Amino acid sequence: MKISVFGLGYVGCVSAACLCDLGHEVWGIDVDPGKLDFILRGQSPIIEEGLGELISKYVKAGTLRATTSAAEALSSTEISLVCVGTPSLESGALNIEYVRRVAAEIGAALKSCGHRHLVILRSTMLPGTTRRELLPILERASGMKEGEGFFVAYNPEFLREGSALRDFYDPPKTVVGALRKETAEHAAQIYAKLTAPLFLTGIEEAEMVKYADNVFHAVKIVFANEIGAIAKPLGVDSHRVMEIFVADHKLNLSPYYLKPGFAFGGSCLPKDVRALAAQAHEANVKTPLLFSLMDANREHVQRAVKMIQSFGKKKIGLLGLAFKAGTDDLRESPMVELVEILLGKGYQIKIYDKNVSLARLVGSNKRFIETVLPHLTELLCPSTDEILEHAEVIVVANSDHDFPPVLEKVKPHQIIFDLVRIFPESPRHLPNYHGFCW
Ligand SMILES: NC(=O)c1ccc[n+]([C@@H]2O[C@H](COP(=O)([O-])OP(=O)(O)OC[C@H]3O[C@@H](n4cnc5c(N)ncnc54)[C@H](O)[C@@H]3O)[C@@H](O)[C@H]2O)c1
Repeated sequence: MKISVFGLGYVGCVSAACLCDLGHEVWGIDVDPGKLDFILRGQSPIIEEGLGELISKYVKAGTLRATTSAAEALSSTEISLVCVGTPSLESGALNIEYVRRVAAEIGAALKSCGHRHLVILRSTMLPGTTRRELLPILERASGMKEGEGFFVAYNPEFLREGSALRDFYDPPKTVVGALRKETAEHAAQIYAKLTAPLFLTGIEEAEMVKYADNVFHAVKIVFANEIGAIAKPLGVDSHRVMEIFVADHKLNLSPYYLKPGFAFGGSCLPKDVRALAAQAHEANVKTPLLFSLMDANREHVQRAVKMIQSFGKKKIGLLGLAFKAGTDDLRESPMVELVEILLGKGYQIKIYDKNVSLARLVGSNKRFIETVLPHLTELLCPSTDEILEHAEVIVVANSDHDFPPVLEKVKPHQIIFDLVRIFPESPRHLPNYHGFCW
């Protein structure tokens, strides 16, 4: 394939050289003449192991060329890969000025290039940037509509500086987002020789994946550092602790606990988060991530309250009260907190949870609910029929297998508010369905 690579920085240089190595012909474009000089002399403008050799090899072979002119590059290529910088503004917001400028240059060059072109954006950009900001620029500057004279895809980059070549050839995944599947498939063709898992998706999902990845990496680093900071004054070897921690692929390094849903609760997580935070405080170790967890969790409950308020209805039916399906443990259940808040705001609530019967509750579980929700008996229903009869809004609060058939029976005027993603796919046949975070 013949590919233009816009921006010859860390990502662009590596992409340009490695794409040549995969057998493609590449034009590199940069506004910085100093960078172009390096490339044209067959040298790497950045320090990255193995990159100089690749650039030298493909410049000599004539398959890696460089220019400052978008028009020159587009006239002899079928694909553009945009890798220009998206730095932070002083406010912390994303500066998309360089991608905008490149979109305008590509758009203008498309007018005269005389063949269909695929524009793949690779710079890290917030969800919506490609569709809302760049697509209109490309269409205006080219005078063409996306899907006719040109096509757009978003393809995030996952390489790490220092091991960039290895990461290019062996990425954790290849993700391509586009407005239609054929465009994503076409874009993915440039990596056809790589064996990484391939995800074809929507543009915004592809844009968001990059942020989910990088923010998670930041969370991991801060988390490990805070565990270390708390462990040291206690004389605990944090490296031994984390060695054992990462060996757990069931609960720790796994998809578990990584699905957007409702707040955490139960008899362990809140108690143990508070205990470790108190320990850090006592030792005068500042651990802002650890301290933020209970607040973030409370905020999530408030988010659910606000969403329920936005429906403008007063009669609520809750399916599930315990902190998760398959238990009667009500201790620190976020659903109990939700009910408490809604009762305080004058909502009329009925609750169904087949595992929760006041007569059977014992010990600290019983004491907790008697203190927090003393009138629970009046709210509990013996079957889901009473919930369907009473509720204007049905809140699905746990993923009990019995609930999906119940939801099939809701009337058109009733709203389903799902906190747990009870249906794996969006239930299009239920028009009043609202997912919490999806
Ligand atoms: N560096 C990384 O490890 C890494 C990894 C993954 C994703 N990313 C993302 O990739 C993007 C590029 O990052 P980078 O580190 O390579 O940036 P960089 O600053 O090293 O390089 C950007 C290049 O774009 C050039 N440029 C600016 N305007 C241009 C224009 N109109 N036409 C042509 N070239 C132009 C600049 O001269 C520069 O050489 C960013 O969005 C970044 O967030 C970076």
